[in-house]
Amino acid sequence: MKKERLFTPGPVQIPERVLKVLGEPIIHHRTPEFKEIFAYTRELFKRLVDSPSDNFVYFASSGTGAMEAAVANFFKPGEKVIVINAGKFGERWVQIANTYGLEIVELKYEWGKSVDIDQLKDSLDRNPDAKGVLFQISETSTGAYHDYKAIGELCKNRDTLVVADAITTLGVYNIKPQQEGIDILIGGSQKALMLPPGLSILWFSERAEKRLNPKGYYFDVKKEVKKQKDATTAYTPAVSLIIGLRESLEILLEEGMENVEKRHRIMSEATRKAVEELGFKVLPEKPAISVTAILSEFAEKLRKEMLTLGVRTAGGQDHLKGKLFRISHMGYLDMLDHFSAIGALELAMVKVLGKTDHLGKGIRAFQKAIVING
Ligand SMILES: Cc1ncc(COP(=O)(O)O)c(C=O)c1O
Repeated sequence: MKKERLFTPGPVQIPERVLKVLGEPIIHHRTPEFKEIFAYTRELFKRLVDSPSDNFVYFASSGTGAMEAAVANFFKPGEKVIVINAGKFGERWVQIANTYGLEIVELKYEWGKSVDIDQLKDSLDRNPDAKGVLFQISETSTGAYHDYKAIGELCKNRDTLVVADAITTLGVYNIKPQQEGIDILIGGSQKALMLPPGLSILWFSERAEKRLNPKGYYFDVKKEVKKQKDATTAYTPAVSLIIGLRESLEILLEEGMENVEKRHRIMSEATRKAVEELGFKVLPEKPAISVTAILSEFAEKLRKEMLTLGVRTAGGQDHLKGKLFRISHMGYLDMLDHFSAIGALELAMVKVLGKTDHLGKGIRAFQKAIVING
């Protein structure tokens, strides 16, 4: 028997309840039945982000599609934006902003670092004409956290839109964009929303709405939001994923977003304690609670052995390839699931490092952290 457990930062493990509805016969999207489901998922999403606003759209795309839509719809060519670039996905903001002819002020950090809020304040003060700050809440390539609440606070009284890529944080942190000064919030289905890939979400504030100026055809937020407020879509939606979203949002809301965040915090902190006890170092100084990025010169060998045991982790990207492995906490994972990841790592270390004295130490540190934090 081969059982694979996904500890990758997307795609993630999917709850049985979601899988069950994904397997149901497809229904047509122009029917009262689908319209009702669509409207209901929108109500659930408003509860997830604790905002009554109807200013959000689903796109049949991966998360990057919604990132592109944010740039294409809310900024004009030549406008200045500040981009926090501390990894692969910060780089993606730079590439998209370049594609749309924006002027970029780059706050570039070594991979693993988080934004320095004083530096950002300084940059905002020196660039009062900056129309947006583009960043990731969790820079998945390094596991670093950028303090979205502090960024929201900084931009509150400025004419600068706060554009948060929450692709690996929506469904992890209890994010309340309206209260926390976020103007554009972007999510993707295959992460903490516990769905297969193929659906993205873009939420926007009232002040962002005033700046709506769509370019392009498919990713036209103005056209799409008008349709979606009426529980339909301009084009064929990702029908099965929307039906799956109904379940996954219900699951998250049943647990309650405060508890969801607490669960991720405990799982990630306990994982950190476990790998540190096993002699590893985590990369980021301020880790996000969605994914733990662990440095090791044996990263690829360890990952291969862990996979043989049935635990799939992610490797490092770009210059961190071969030097990093990442254990995700997103998706249908609880505390006990993490024993399989830590246990597999300990067993992989036996094979790769040829020693056994560490056995049980990671598991014990994990358990201790749960007892202390739980
Ligand atoms: C923070 C972040 N932003 C953007 C993306 C890109 O999302 P997608 O692969 O769904 O286009 C990812 C994917 O891992 C991500 O983690």
